[in-house]
Amino acid sequence: MSRLIIVSNRVAPISEGGPAAGGLAVGVYDALKETGGMWFGWSGDVVAEPPQSITLEERGRVTFATIGLAQRDYDQYYRGFSNATLWPAFHYRPDLIQFDRDEFDGYCRVNRWLAKQLAPLLKADDVIWVHDYHLIPFAQALRDEGVTNRIGFFLHIPFPATQVLLSVPRHRVLVEALCSFDLLGFQTAPDLRAFCDYIETQANGSVVRIAGEPNAVSAFGKTLRAAAYPIGVYPDEIALLAKDGESGREVQTVKTTLRDRKLIMSVDRLDYSKGLVERFRAFEKLLEHQPAQRNNVSFVQIAPPTRADMDTYRDIRLQLEAESGRINGRYAELDWTPIRYIHRQYERPVLAALFRASHVGFVTPLRDGMNLVAKEYVAAQDPDDPGVLVLSQFAGAAQELNGALIVNPLDIAGMADALAAALAMPLKERQARYTDMFAQLRENNVSVWRDNFMRDLQA
Ligand code: G6P
Repeated sequence: MSRLIIVSNRVAPISEGGPAAGGLAVGVYDALKETGGMWFGWSGDVVAEPPQSITLEERGRVTFATIGLAQRDYDQYYRGFSNATLWPAFHYRPDLIQFDRDEFDGYCRVNRWLAKQLAPLLKADDVIWVHDYHLIPFAQALRDEGVTNRIGFFLHIPFPATQVLLSVPRHRVLVEALCSFDLLGFQTAPDLRAFCDYIETQANGSVVRIAGEPNAVSAFGKTLRAAAYPIGVYPDEIALLAKDGESGREVQTVKTTLRDRKLIMSVDRLDYSKGLVERFRAFEKLLEHQPAQRNNVSFVQIAPPTRADMDTYRDIRLQLEAESGRINGRYAELDWTPIRYIHRQYERPVLAALFRASHVGFVTPLRDGMNLVAKEYVAAQDPDDPGVLVLSQFAGAAQELNGALIVNPLDIAGMADALAAALAMPLKERQARYTDMFAQLRENNVSVWRDNFMRDLQA
């Protein structure tokens, strides 16, 4: 059987206290543990140059091949073009796009350099699966190294509508580079449609759509295939983790300090795409409109810092600190803090147990490729007494999780109403919604995601 080679900028598992993991690291690691293979990417270290060499480390059936980035590469490729240009653009925030031509050149240079490092480790029948927006030019770079293996790409974040993508300078170069992959995978049908729309309207390309099969795309003199493969979780594993964690210290502490109050839970990297300010205001609106909820419900927002050396992330952090302080100042009582806003990272089992102990999962990104927290929240629930998921219509997960209360993350009053409905929802309705969503999670778990992608890549 051919070996699976995963390539991504960030390589899991991410250590406690390190940067917040995000869906890519979680989902890909789950998928790779089962099949075994190699995972190649950045070590997370910024190192003096040169020399830099690959570190190989075996953990179970997975070989981690990691390499440090020089300061200039980190600045141009990671902080610069990936996170100051592509990230805001792909999350529909053209107002936050910063573009610097040197950073774009650095982005392409680092892709070429990474490809050069990986090429000698490859065997002829390896299948290569590249992940996320940092590595759009990677297939082209590998081909330039003479690699002829199958190469697939999966985008974990949204693919923006054409008019938004046009605001990224060099968009054409990027889409042309994407067309060097053999197979492109997107999280949802709307992302796939956006890509195909660009191909047809901007690249003079063609898309053949056949039901039940990936689209056949021709553009820039290349042919490739593209489809939606929504990433999943292992719901039964998470359910077990959540149950086992019930008696853990963290959950007991939360329960003791809550007393009989209800709990609303959110967990996100501290990112401006996550809609945290609007979410805090929605909770405030709930307290404002429904005085009976005061001192009867607490909102725990866990938000580990991420990309903290970038201005846009410093800004959102300051804004949230001001909002939580303002709301708590307005409503707190001597024995009750409405919002518990926590900046640290917790292990997955602790989060799963906290999800299970809560009454509402409040997941309201302004845009999100999938949002695995939404799926993990559902998976962690107690079937006899499940909590309710309040979910943004702009999370990829909303395409699948029909049992959630779907909200517009900009509609503060609408979100407050959804919270009130979730807190008051009768057991029978909660169970019906949960059962429906849990079945969906089982049907499309991480193995299905990986196997479908690999089947189409190898076809
Ligand atoms: C998102 C992205 C991932 C990224 C993660 C954490 O989930 O899709 O590619 O790894 O955020 O962000 P970071 O910049 O710390 O890798």
